[in-house]
Amino acid sequence: MSTENPEPAGSTGGTLARARNIRCVYGGGETDFTAVDGVSIELGDGEILGLAGESGCGKTTLGNALAMIAVPPLYVLSGTLEIDGDDIDLSTLSTADVARHRPYRGRTVSMLPQGAMNSISPTLRISSLVRDVMRAHDPRISKDEALDLARERLTMLDMPVRALDSYAHQLSGGMKQRMITVISTLQNPRLLIADEPTSALDVSSQRMLVEMLLEMVDQRIMSGVVFVTHDLPVLSQVSDRLAIMNAGQIVESGPTRQLVEDPQHPYTRTLLSSVLDPSHETRARGAARFTAGAGPNPEEVGAP
Ligand SMILES: Nc1ncnc2c1ncn2[C@@H]1O[C@H](COP(=O)(O)OP(=O)(O)OP(=O)(O)O)[C@@H](O)[C@H]1O
Ligand SMILES: [Mg+2]
Repeated sequence: MSTENPEPAGSTGGTLARARNIRCVYGGGETDFTAVDGVSIELGDGEILGLAGESGCGKTTLGNALAMIAVPPLYVLSGTLEIDGDDIDLSTLSTADVARHRPYRGRTVSMLPQGAMNSISPTLRISSLVRDVMRAHDPRISKDEALDLARERLTMLDMPVRALDSYAHQLSGGMKQRMITVISTLQNPRLLIADEPTSALDVSSQRMLVEMLLEMVDQRIMSGVVFVTHDLPVLSQVSDRLAIMNAGQIVESGPTRQLVEDPQHPYTRTLLSSVLDPSHETRARGAARFTAGAGPNPEEVGAP
C-alpha cells in the first residue's frame, strides 16, 4: 500500500492549496481498485501545476477528488485540502453528507471536465449553458445577472460576446473549449482543475487556450490551476511546476525546467524520452514500456 509522495509539488511563494494523502478507490466493496494512492500536492499562489502521466494513471480521479466530485463507484477514502483558510476533509465526500462540500464546488475549486466541450447539449445556446451553470451554483443569481457577468468576462478576455448566442455545433472546437473554460470560471474559483483542456485541439487552438489560461491567472480570475494532460510539450510551456503521476502515485515533482532538463525518476525519464527525444528508436522503446499503468522496470532504464 502506498504512501504519500515525500516531496509535494508546490511553489516557493505563498501557498494557495495543500492537498494531503488523497486515496481514491473505485468499487466500494471487496474488489476495490485503488486509482489514487496517497497523493499529496501543493500549489503556490498564482501557479500553474502540470499533472502528467499516461492514460489510466489516475489524473482525472485525482482532479475529481480535488474538485470535490465523488460519485459512486468512486470513493475517496482519505485526504484533506487546505485552501483559503479552510481545511476540508475529502474523505467525507462519498458519504450522504453532500451539502458539506457544496459551498466549495465551483467557487473554491472549479472543474473543467475532460471532454466537456463535446458534451454540451446541441439544443441549447451557450447563453443557456451560462445560466444553467451559474444557477446550479447560486440559485439566487438571475438569468440577466449571469449573462451580464459572462459578457463582461468575455470582453475582458477579448473573446466575441456574440458567441453566447450560438449553439455548440456552430463554434469551432477551440472556441467551444475557450467558452467552456470561461463558463467554468465565472465564479472566480480560487483553484481551477483543467482536465485535458487542450487534448482534442489543433496546435493553434491549443496555444490560444493556454494563453487565455495564463491571462486568467494574471487577471486573478483564478489564483491557481492544476493543468491535467498527458501532453508534456504543452505542459512544459504552460506550467510553473510539474507533477508526474504513475499508477496512482506522484513519482516526481518540481519546477518545470528542472524536471524536464534533469529528471530524477526513471518513469519521468521514460515519459519525457517518449515525446521529447526525436530519435525514433527511443520513442519506440519508451512507448513499449507504457503498459497497463505499470511503471518501467527501474533496472532496465538505469535507476539511480
Ligand atoms: N467509473 C469507473 N469505474 C471503475 N474504474 C474506473 C472508473 N473511472 C476510472 N477508472 C479506473 O481508474 C483508473 C484511473 O482512471 P483515470 O480516469 O483517473 O485516469 P487518467 O489518468 O485520467 O486517464 P486518461 O489520461 O485516459 O484520461 C483507470 O485504471 C480507470 O480504468
Ligand atoms: Mg483523464
